[in-house]
Amino acid sequence: MFAPTYPRLTGRLRIRPYRADDLDSVMSIFGRADVSRYLNWEPMDREAATALLERRLKQTRIEHEGEGLGLVVAERETDRFVGEVVLRLMSEASRQGEIGWSIHPDAQGRGYATEAAREMLRLGFEELGLHRIVAECDPRNEASIRVMEKLGMRREAHHLEAIYLKGEWVGSMVYAILASEWRAA
Ligand SMILES: CC(C)(COP(=O)(O)OP(=O)(O)OC[C@H]1O[C@@H](n2cnc3c(N)ncnc32)[C@H](O)[C@@H]1OP(=O)(O)O)[C@@H](O)C(=O)NCCC(=O)NCCS
Repeated sequence: MFAPTYPRLTGRLRIRPYRADDLDSVMSIFGRADVSRYLNWEPMDREAATALLERRLKQTRIEHEGEGLGLVVAERETDRFVGEVVLRLMSEASRQGEIGWSIHPDAQGRGYATEAAREMLRLGFEELGLHRIVAECDPRNEASIRVMEKLGMRREAHHLEAIYLKGEWVGSMVYAILASEWRAA
């Protein structure tokens, strides 16, 4: 069982569990086509956002392999919702994790994804004891690739036409960072 303490505070951000009153915020980000553009879901209506929020409300601790943390990224001083970060335990035996992020377009370009993801890497390596953390994205998602590079992740693979997404074949870019690389940085 891995149950971190919350909130996780960074210089500008408050990373905290979702609350039932976050539904409008969930709709405001995941209801947008520009946010879902490179992801395998369509913009969410209220029903889909409610289902996501119900899942996220439980994602505050990890009890079994395959489970993850799904947390709100909010501004530290005001608690204004700006996005989310996720960290999933992919393999307990091999101590492998996967990280992901989404930031509301109104709050993009300020380094928030990088700042929040860095805290999740810290959590993954220093508290959960992971050995390797990966992130994957559509090769056209240049902002996300830039975040991975700023985090010190290495490009491990560029799979061609690996996913059939929204009517077309798209590639998959895989980045990773080892615990040893994290410590060295
Ligand atoms: C990917 C995402 C989370 C980045 O959030 P963010 O808070 O803006 O990220 P940061 O500010 O930490 O860093 C973004 C970097 O990408 C750069 N960037 C943004 N758009 C870019 C583009 N179209 N081409 C190249 N670089 C781009 C920014 O300049 C910045 O780099 P810099 O610090 O060197 O200037 C955000 O764009 C998003 O939520 N997208 C929609 C959801 C999504 O695709 N999630 C990722 C799934 S893998």
